[in-house]
Amino acid sequence: MSAKIGDTMFGEIVGKVTASKDPAIKVGDYAQAYAGWVTHAVVNGKQTQRIPELPEGVPLTLTVGTLGMPGLTAYFGLKEVAQLKETDTVLVNAAAGAVGSVVGQIAKIKGCKVIGSVGSDEKVKYLKEELGFDEAYNYKVVTPDKLGDELKKLAPNGIDVFFENVGGEASSVIYSHINQKGRVAVCGSISSYNVKGDKPKVTEFIHLLIYKSIRVEGFNVMTYFARRDDALKEMVVWLKEGKLKYREHKFENFESMFDAFAALFTGQNTGKVVVTV
Ligand SMILES: NC(=O)c1ccc[n+]([C@@H]2O[C@H](COP(=O)([O-])OP(=O)(O)OC[C@H]3O[C@@H](n4cnc5c(N)ncnc54)[C@H](OP(=O)(O)O)[C@@H]3O)[C@@H](O)[C@H]2O)c1
Repeated sequence: MSAKIGDTMFGEIVGKVTASKDPAIKVGDYAQAYAGWVTHAVVNGKQTQRIPELPEGVPLTLTVGTLGMPGLTAYFGLKEVAQLKETDTVLVNAAAGAVGSVVGQIAKIKGCKVIGSVGSDEKVKYLKEELGFDEAYNYKVVTPDKLGDELKKLAPNGIDVFFENVGGEASSVIYSHINQKGRVAVCGSISSYNVKGDKPKVTEFIHLLIYKSIRVEGFNVMTYFARRDDALKEMVVWLKEGKLKYREHKFENFESMFDAFAALFTGQNTGKVVVTV
């Protein structure tokens, strides 16, 4: 998916209904839609999503974060794509972000050992002290040449599930630490999105897939949206129980859209980037 100059940039919004011709949607209701970067949207009622019942004190913006598309990506990526088991050791990268932070927490809820890769020491601290990850490392310090030794320490019994958000050379090293019958949920490859010319490569893994019987599956969360409501019910319970924590990185005003988007690529954000208009 890519946007051309002049297109409305894609994205999800949640907002108040100011006029409605759909009897099921009332003025004053809140609704969610993939309307892109806009201050106001005209959408077909059938293309709007229902807002899940939010626990008290939970901001509406969580419906585009932990209780929205990114949270569901984590949920279905682990449950359906990675076929998560309680005995698994899970490694997730971009682990302090909107998807990764939920991946790690759900895997902990399910009883797994969880390791996170992030781009700063502050985020390492956040994962371990606030989100309950077992281990975390800063990939800017633990560069691919050092990663093998680090993973021997952090995951001495190997990795069963790799939740891939980033791609690139570090992933080659991670693949070589995946166990027999390991599973890779390929969610994203953010390290390559803005690269023109030669993309960062996962270089050495095909032979590993063969002799370790590793299953690698890419997925798009939309595939699972028919089961969205049941997943959200379960996640709301975890939120109420304090097992699912979140941070949002908020920007104000429509004019900050570009800065908000750019933050994703510099790692400025912790948790979901949200713009309030
Ligand atoms: N398959 C699907 O259906 C689906 C759905 C939603 C999202 N996604 C994908 O999931 C991934 C995470 O999305 P998100 O919304 O949760 O974003 P996010 O994690 O909230 O933000 C992106 C994070 O990626 C890290 N990052 C950026 N450039 C990097 C690089 N070159 N190398 C390593 N890390 C880098 C940064 O954290 P650090 O500070 O740690 O570097 C940044 O904070 C993305 O690849 C996205 O495209 C896929």
